[in-house]
Amino acid sequence: MTPNWQEFASGQDLAEELADTVAHNLAEAISARGTALMAVSGGSTPPPFFRALSRRKLDWARVTVTLADERFVPTDSERSNARLVARHLLQNEAARAAFVNLYHACDSVEEAAGLADRAVGTLPLPFDVVVLGMGTDGHTASFFPDAENLTELLTPASGRYVLPVHAPGAGEPRLTLSMPVVRQARFMVLHIEGAKKKDVLEAALAQDAGPLLPVRVVLDHAATPAQIYWAPKEDRRT
Ligand code: 6PG
Repeated sequence: MTPNWQEFASGQDLAEELADTVAHNLAEAISARGTALMAVSGGSTPPPFFRALSRRKLDWARVTVTLADERFVPTDSERSNARLVARHLLQNEAARAAFVNLYHACDSVEEAAGLADRAVGTLPLPFDVVVLGMGTDGHTASFFPDAENLTELLTPASGRYVLPVHAPGAGEPRLTLSMPVVRQARFMVLHIEGAKKKDVLEAALAQDAGPLLPVRVVLDHAATPAQIYWAPKEDRRT
């Protein structure tokens, strides 16, 4: 599936436009099926988009939000994506949305992934909206190129909804939605900012031999063409 690129002059322009588009897709899902299901990413890029989306008027009480991936850290940790979503997205109008945490306080990430797998398995899949980010190493969600279980992570036919990840490049163990769950999204967005990430993604999309970067594998397997949202990187304090 060849993705569609959309470039913006600034991260704030992108945040507003993406918030409108995502809100539109959520509202459409609610009118078609009565509810809407969305997965978002963590990291340093999403907060302006989260804040813009949190102000959009729609029937948020019918929306369930979860994460494309999570760091295996407690929810009060600086590194927690659940904390990031609570602080920047589940505010204003969006405070009425339901949130399904991938993190569970267990002894191992494998145990937590088992609980998260069961929870995501009860959701009205497929996702209406999945918003992914990308690292300069070409990872997306927590599909890290140096993950110990990379083959399992990139398998379109995995029987799992959520998988544990151990990858030196990740900084801590991770929980991630599986490839089948991500690729079946009705509306998939890859939100990246900065020249470095643009170069990495363009090279990944142009690659025709050798092991493909995880972001390329996800875009190739997407059930509907992904929308790439790009803007130059701005120095901002989140
Ligand atoms: C995470 C993310 C991850 C993120 C990229 C980009 O938990 O880290 O979900 O996939 O999208 O790492 O992160 P930045 O936006 O900080 O560059």
